Amino acid sequence: MQHLISRRAQDAAEEASQTPIWDVLSDAWCASTNPNGFVNVGVAENSLMHNELLTFLNNKLELPAQYLTYNDGNSGSNRLRASMAGFLNRQLKPFTPLNADHLVVTNGVSPAIEHVSWAFTDPGEGILLGRPYYGTFIPDMMTRPRATVVPVSFEECDPLSLEGVAKYETALLNFQEETGKKVRSLMLCHPHNPLGRCYSREVLIELMRFCQKYQIHLISDEIYALSVWENTVDEYPPPVKFESALSIDLNGIIDPRLVHVLWGVSKDFGANGLRMGVIISQVNEDLHSALRGASLYTTPSGLADHLMATLFDDSTFMDAYIQESQRRLSQSYAFTVDFLREHGITYAPGANAAFFVWVDLGKRYRELHPSVSDNDSVGDKVMDLLLKHKVFLASGALFGSEKDGWFRIVFTQSKEYLVLALERIVAALQDEIV
Ligand SMILES: Cc1ncc(COP(=O)(O)O)c(C=O)c1O
Repeated sequence: MQHLISRRAQDAAEEASQTPIWDVLSDAWCASTNPNGFVNVGVAENSLMHNELLTFLNNKLELPAQYLTYNDGNSGSNRLRASMAGFLNRQLKPFTPLNADHLVVTNGVSPAIEHVSWAFTDPGEGILLGRPYYGTFIPDMMTRPRATVVPVSFEECDPLSLEGVAKYETALLNFQEETGKKVRSLMLCHPHNPLGRCYSREVLIELMRFCQKYQIHLISDEIYALSVWENTVDEYPPPVKFESALSIDLNGIIDPRLVHVLWGVSKDFGANGLRMGVIISQVNEDLHSALRGASLYTTPSGLADHLMATLFDDSTFMDAYIQESQRRLSQSYAFTVDFLREHGITYAPGANAAFFVWVDLGKRYRELHPSVSDNDSVGDKVMDLLLKHKVFLASGALFGSEKDGWFRIVFTQSKEYLVLALERIVAALQDEIV
């Protein structure tokens, strides 16, 4: 058949056809109108603070005329960037305070990931990414920027540990030797999606030293930076407190032009639909010059620009909001973990950030179905059963999991919704006919 779209677009279409997410989104559960629809605990949405945020935003929605224009340019209004810099100075405690010129505001972190991938790699060059990873990093970095993601395997070693740093070096050397192409950057997710933990300062510094050695960029995606909370249920591993890569004095460690942080409002403000992200790069003038034109394609809407600047300037509201959000995250995690324990489902303990429990559904499925051979992988089968029971989870297979049968549950929904999802998961594991 003759295609009327490019080879690259055909590949993207083929990729997109392999995920059930589009069916899930178009057939969403609703207690009254669609009780047999999909319960979605696969997408990282956070509705725990929706009411509080809506009350604030709806009260402030008075748009000055300049927000109907292109305003100060493509990368966020001057007012927004100044307000955001002030807010992030309080929250991320950068070693060198941020100012508006350090920020390129985009319509989400996804476009920010595309931008930095495009800016740092020529087609085919490598970006290191530790496993397991946030699955959408792959299309973000590969589909349009044409970078090659180089997955980093850790085997039995903790991916967030000091020992893990050596694995990045092995992956870099193998990739360069096998392809003759260079690795240009390392994408870190800190706090980690899907593991819900933070890298220690010591590990961050070691990763920076590694990046300096090979002159590659360290991009720290800190989209969950403010969604850190107290884990009241797990004893091990001990929690590591979140410290931004920006908070480190880079002197003698790494060329500061190689360090970049991404952040956005989708997660910490439960506002995926507002579409706002930011690339923070404090001294890399080349990057800022390159993005000056390219940011035309990722300009945040005037509405989001105005509303978020208003929010960032209200430090009293923000402090109370973040504190309450963190309290609810902690509670919801504990509730989910209690349920999992009661139902004999193993999970990776020790999370203290983000919205996730990383669960071994494959193990529980095997226990419930002793006839399954130890050599057979069960991840795909469990995924099919979950979909049959109309509950959607992110599968480890798409998240580069090194082990079969692991899934990511998002726990930041109302209790009613969460219980329904968890009950459907339990029912799916007991079933065997797909
Ligand atoms: C680690 C990470 N980065 C980026 C994104 C995308 O965020 P945005 O909605 O700002 O595009 C997500 C969303 O799940 C994420 O988990």
